This record gives sequence, structure tokens and C-alpha cells, in this order.
Amino acid sequence: MAELFLEVKNITKTFIGVKALDNVDLSIGKGEIHCLVGENGSGKSTLIKIIGGVYKPDSGTITLDGTEYKSINAIESIRAGVQIIYQDLSLFPNMTVAENIAMNQMLVSNNRVINWKHMHQDARKALEEIGEDIDLYEKVENLSIARRQIVAICRALTQNARLIIMDEATSAITKDEVEHLFEVIAKLQKKGIAILFVSHKLNEVFQIAERVTIIKDAKKVGVYPASELNNDKMVFLMTGQNFKAEPYRYNGTSEPVLSVHDLNKTGQFSGISFDLKKGEILGITGLLGSGRTEIALSLFGLNRLDSGEIRVNGKPLDIRSPRDAIAAGIAYLPEDRLTQGLFAAHTVGNNIIITVLNELLNRFKILVRSRQEDEKKSWIKKLNIKTPGHHSSASSLSGGNQQRVVIAKWLATKPAVFILDGPTIGIDIGSKHNIHEIIRDLARNGMSIIMISDEIPEILDNCNRVLVMAEGRIIKEIKDSTKVNEEELLDIVSSRNFVQGAAG
Ligand SMILES: Nc1ncnc2c1ncn2[C@@H]1O[C@H](COP(=O)(O)OP(=O)(O)OP(=O)(O)O)[C@@H](O)[C@H]1O
Ligand SMILES: [Mg+2]
Repeated sequence: MAELFLEVKNITKTFIGVKALDNVDLSIGKGEIHCLVGENGSGKSTLIKIIGGVYKPDSGTITLDGTEYKSINAIESIRAGVQIIYQDLSLFPNMTVAENIAMNQMLVSNNRVINWKHMHQDARKALEEIGEDIDLYEKVENLSIARRQIVAICRALTQNARLIIMDEATSAITKDEVEHLFEVIAKLQKKGIAILFVSHKLNEVFQIAERVTIIKDAKKVGVYPASELNNDKMVFLMTGQNFKAEPYRYNGTSEPVLSVHDLNKTGQFSGISFDLKKGEILGITGLLGSGRTEIALSLFGLNRLDSGEIRVNGKPLDIRSPRDAIAAGIAYLPEDRLTQGLFAAHTVGNNIIITVLNELLNRFKILVRSRQEDEKKSWIKKLNIKTPGHHSSASSLSGGNQQRVVIAKWLATKPAVFILDGPTIGIDIGSKHNIHEIIRDLARNGMSIIMISDEIPEILDNCNRVLVMAEGRIIKEIKDSTKVNEEELLDIVSSRNFVQGAAG
């Protein structure tokens, strides 16, 4: 392998009550594409923050291009060429592309006066370096997430990045955009820039990694050339388990719990009709922008319909707000649950019971403390949420564990219909199986579930019936999901020259 750019040795980091990293090593060659994988809460983001000088390790050393640090601060790390792109990208939405790309550089260069001409030159140069063309005067808030990522990468380039770290960069972008990002990464590599890529999508890891470092429970399991790993082996190293999903068998015959007829919303979807029976897991898939999420929002009272009828247990309902939806027994796990679903500053426990507070009030309207505690504890146990206890703040949990808190919160409302939009985005493979099992179990016990996802295996493993959407319409209903395989479903989803209305 090429000469090392980064060498992290024996790093240990403890937060109050939690050992986040235990004697971990990581090395990355100059110009290497390296992936870091591990389950939720295994310590990936913590390790990255230590390299970036955000956290100080308890012990261990960090060597960057031959210079050893006992601990490094953020400025030293940037000067040495480390650039971290967090999932939120840390851009200023109301500033222009040029300002976002070049501002940091301007600030550290200590010029009292901002030189606008230079700023535009620098920004243009960074875009050209990776062959991208984005209007320098456009405000970042008007760009897609994928293009914002490009802006963040260019910002890293203006600061002479030699190692760019991307923490779950692909969880919010489409497949085509992921491909494009990988082309950009290949260009960066050609320039000798190393990449550390963190993702829960193992197929992506195989696609780009040269070497993979696996961590589990705060410890390094090992580092492997990607060519020596396959999916099952990697999953086993990450989790210590092998998984095999049993497709969900449904044999219900009852009346529909939810039934929608001819739902229309201009510019979003039209002619949407379907039934959902007790104990069914209905999959809705389709490309991003096909209208899937918009329908879910309408069912949850967050997107007013132009026309159409929604019935719950045969009764027509006018759902004008989430409150109406919850009262009708409908729960909704939003796609973007970390910003929409979680109160990060509150405790884990309070996040869970927030929607059921009324129920936990006894008839004298006194919040019974013991019942609250029981409820919180039981959900933490059921969903296997990794936390020291329900008093911990939600913000201290790892990404995947925060997601479980949001799932728990909705399950606590005991919904009849649970709509999950991208139920396992950003969730590690082990927890994913675990969450799928929970969902199937809920269905077996009579809950009706709509699962929206663009992950074909997730849809086929869990749903007994599937609707495929494109451009706001249902283009196909697959009545028995055991009758199609992954490739066939992928073909249906991605075929753009479908016959309109050819559902059947
Ligand atoms: N600031 C903090 N205070 C307390 N505990 C923390 C803090 N940051 C992380 N932890 C804990 O350290 C452990 C490792 O968390 P980390 O965020 O590094 O995991 P991760 O591998 O990035 O997980 P994910 O895949 O879910 O993003 C977790 O148990 C987490 O709860
Ligand atoms: Mg993380």
C-alpha cells in the first residue's frame, strides 16, 4: 500500500457511563478509499470526531502525514489536511454557492476584508477541479442535497484537503446521485486525496472501498481488503451473527382497516386507490419523487388532499391534522425523523411517552410516575435501545438508536395503521433485521402496516403485497410478493417507459 497519510493508534474514549472506543486503530494510505463500518453505536462517529479534533481521546495517538499528536485540536486537524463532511453538511443555506465554498478559507486566511473576486475564483477553481458546474450565485437552500454535497466537497478542496471523511453521506440521496458522488470520489482519489467513507449500505462499501475497517462494540474487529470480504462475512464480523429473513406470510381475509379511493393532489399524485387489511404489510415503492411520501403525508393530515376519500374501518374520515390521524389510529414515522421526530434535548424516556401522555394520566389527571417509568423502560427493552437509561438525553444516542426512540414513540400510541417511511434509513444491518422482525411481529399481532421504501430487498422481505409508483400514480400492484424476485421488481420500479395505468 501507498505511504500512510493517517495512522490512529490505541484510541480510547469514554463518555460518562459509556466506553465509545476501546483501544482502536485505523490507518489510511495517501489517496486510499477506506470504509469504516460497524453497527449503530459502535463508535464510528466518535472516532471521526477525534480525528477532526472535536473530541479529545482519553489515550492513544494520531499521526497525520508523519506528525504525531497526543490529541489534536480542530485547527491543527484542518491544517494537516483533514476535512469532515457531516451528514448535515454544515452549510449556510441562505448564502451563495461561492460564499459557502470559499468562506472558510477566507476566514482562516485572516484577511480583514473579504475579497469577493478571489472568492469567486477560488470557488470556480474548486468546482472545475472535480468537473462540476453549479451556479456560483445560487443560494445553497435552492440546491438538492446531492448538489449541496458537491458544495461541501468543494469547500474541503479550497482548504487543501488531503483526507475527506464522509459520515453517512448517502443516506439522503438517490441511487443515481450516489453513482455521481462515487465518480466525484474517484476524481478526488486521482488527485491523491484519501477518503474515509462511513455507510450502512454494504453494497456501496463493496463498490468503492479498497480496505474496510470493521468496529464492533467500541473495539476494532480488523481491517480487510474489500476483495477478501463478501456481504455475509462482513455482516458476521460486524454483528457476530448470521441473518436470514423469512418472508412475511399473510393469510388474512378480513375487511380493510384503511381504504382510500381516488386520492388526488395536483402536482403530487392522482387516482390513488388501495385497501389495507388487518395484519397486512403493504409495500409502496418507486423512485424518489414518485409521490410515495406525499401520500403518506396526506394520510397523516400533513398534506391536504384536493379530492378523494379515506375510510378507516369503513367510516369516511376528514383528516385535517396529525391529531385527527392519531385519533383515527394512524401513526406515521417520517422519512426525516431526526429533524421531524425527535426532541434531541429531551430525555430518551420523555421522547417515547410524549404522544401518550394523556393515556398515562390517571383519572385524577395525575401523571402516575411508576406507570411512566414502566412504559419508558419497556420500550427501551422491546426495541433494544442502546442507552445507559431513560434519563439520558436523546442527543447522546447514536444515530440508529435515536431512530428506534422515534419508532418506540409511535408504537406507544398503539396505532391500528402504522405508516413507516424508509423505516431503516441509516440503521445498521443487525438492527435492521431486528427492526424488520419487530414490524413483522406487529403485523402478526394485527397491526396494519404501510412500508414505504426504495430498498427492494427490504420491501420483498417484509411486505406481502406491493404497490409500485411512478410520477404520482400506482403503475403496478404485486398481489403476492413471493411471486417476484429482486431483479423483476427493480425492473418494474426503474422502467420509465411504462404504460400509464397498466396496474394489475
Ligand atoms: N457526546 C456524547 N455523550 C455521551 N455519549 C456519547 C456521545 N457521543 C456518542 N456517545 C455514545 O458513544 C457510543 C458511540 O456512538 P457513535 O455516535 O460514535 O456511534 P456510531 O458508530 O457513529 O453509530 P451510528 O451508526 O448509529 O451513527 C454510543 O453508545 C453513543 O451513545
Ligand atoms: Mg454515527
